[in-house]
Amino acid sequence: NEEQIALFTIFGGTGDLARRKLYPSLFRLYRKGFLKNKFAVIGTARREWTDDYYREVITTSIDALSPTEEEALAFSSHFYYQAHNVMDSAHYHSLKELADELDEKYQLEGNRLFYLAMAPNFFGTIVDHLKSEQIIDTRGYSRLIIEKPFGSSFESAQQLNEQIRAVFNEEQIFRIDHYLGKEMIQNISAVRFGNYIFESLWNNHYIDNIQVTLAEDLGVEDRGGYYDKSGALKDMIQNHILQVVALLAMEVPNTFSEKTIREEKIKALKAVRIYSEEEALENFVRGQYVSNTFNGKDIISYREETNVAPDSRTETFVAGKLVIDNFRWKGVPFYIRTGKQLTTKAARINVVFKPSPVNIFNPEDVCKTLPQNILTIYIQPTEGFSLTLNGKEVGPGFHLDPVKLDYRNTAEIIENSPEAYEKLVLDALKGDATNFTHWDEVSQSWRIVDVIRQAWDKEEGDIPTYKAGTMGPAEAFDLIKRENDDWVWKP
Ligand code: BG6
Repeated sequence: NEEQIALFTIFGGTGDLARRKLYPSLFRLYRKGFLKNKFAVIGTARREWTDDYYREVITTSIDALSPTEEEALAFSSHFYYQAHNVMDSAHYHSLKELADELDEKYQLEGNRLFYLAMAPNFFGTIVDHLKSEQIIDTRGYSRLIIEKPFGSSFESAQQLNEQIRAVFNEEQIFRIDHYLGKEMIQNISAVRFGNYIFESLWNNHYIDNIQVTLAEDLGVEDRGGYYDKSGALKDMIQNHILQVVALLAMEVPNTFSEKTIREEKIKALKAVRIYSEEEALENFVRGQYVSNTFNGKDIISYREETNVAPDSRTETFVAGKLVIDNFRWKGVPFYIRTGKQLTTKAARINVVFKPSPVNIFNPEDVCKTLPQNILTIYIQPTEGFSLTLNGKEVGPGFHLDPVKLDYRNTAEIIENSPEAYEKLVLDALKGDATNFTHWDEVSQSWRIVDVIRQAWDKEEGDIPTYKAGTMGPAEAFDLIKRENDDWVWKP
C-alpha cells in the first residue's frame, strides 16, 4: 500500500461527521499503511479545544476499531487543533503558520487537502481566505473535499460553485457522494461492463423497467433542523439516487477511467427528462410518516420530532418515475423511491427484463405472460446479486417454477471491506475523482429536482402520509400500478 503524504485541514473538526466517519476512516488508512509518518491533521472549528483534548476525541472516535494503546497514541499524535472563526482573517494567519510548521515537521511536501465538513454558508469565505492568505501556495497539491448539500437548488449551487471555482479548478474539487464509495454501487459498472450477457441486453429491447429503492428504517433522529428544510427530495434523490440512475443508464465508456465515466454519467443525466410542473405532479409522489406501533415499538410522527415544525409539510418519502430520452432507454421507466421510517433499512436495484414474447407453455392462452426475469443488485445491508429465472418444476408433467440464482457477500467479507468514506478519502489522496460528482452532474441533478420541488411548493394543504414501518403512502403504489408495473421489492 503506497504511502500517501498530505496535510488534512478539516473545517468542522469537532462535528458529528468528522467523528463518526472521517477519523475512523483515517485510522483505517493508517492501519493499512496508506498513511504512515508523513501525514498530519489540523482540526478546526469554533470551539476552544486543546490539542490534548482533540486527541482524546480522536482516540474515542476510533475506539470501535480496537486499536492498541500504542497505536491510538501514535495515530492521534498527528492531530492538531486550532479554534477558528472562519470570518476572521487573522485566524487564517495562524492556520497558515501551523500548516507550514507541520509541513516541515512531517515532510508533507506541500500537499494539502481541505475538507469542508460544515454548514455550506461559509464555504465561499473559507476558500477565499485559503487563497488570499496564501495557504494553498505550496509546492505540492491543494485539493478541496466538500460534503453535501452542494447548494439547495440549481441557482444556489451555481453561486456556490462560482465562489469555489474562483479559487480551485474542477480537477481540485472532490464533491462527496458517499454512495459512490459503496462496494455494490461500484459493482454496477462491474456487472454491466464485465458481463456481456447483461450489457448486451441493457436497453429498451430487453429491459422492461428499472427500480431503485433506498429505504431507511430510522426517522430524522437529531437532524430535524436540517432535514425539515431539506426533505427527502434534496436529501436523497438529488444526489444518491440520481447518481445510481446515472451509473445504470450511462453508455459504455471506451475505457474505465475518471474522465470517460464522468463524461458518460453527465450525458446520461442530461438525457433524463426535465418535467414540466404538471408532469412532475403526475410522476412524483411524496409522503410524511405518522405515528405507528411497529415491531413492538411506538414510533412518533415526523411532526413531533425535535426541531421539526409542528405543521411541517416536508416530505420524508419520495417515489417517482424518471424518463430517459435517448435511444437506449426510450420507453423504459426508471422507478425510484426513498424514505425514512420505512419497514426496513435496505437499498437495492431491480432490473426487470421483458417477459418471453409468447408463453408456449400455456397453449390455452399463449399471451398470458410468464414471470419476468429480474436482476437484483443488493447494495445494503446485504451485498450481492440475484437473478430470477423460470425453470421446470421437479416432477411429472411440465410446469414452470421460478428459481433464483443468488450470490451474497458473507458477513466476514462485508465486515472487512473498506467503508465508503475510507475509499473516498484514499481516492482524494490519490487525486482520483472517478467516484466524486462533477459540477455538470450536480447542476443537472438540481435541474431535474428543482421542477418537482417548485411544483410541490405551489400545492396547498397537507401532503400524503404513511404509517411509520410501512413502505410509503398509497400514492406510491398507485403511481407504479398506473403504468401496469409493480414494485418488485415489498418487504
Ligand atoms: C445521507 C442523508 O446523505 O445519507 C441521510 O443525509 C441518510 O439522511 C444517509 O440517512 C443514508 O446513507 P446510508 O449510507 O446510511 O444509506
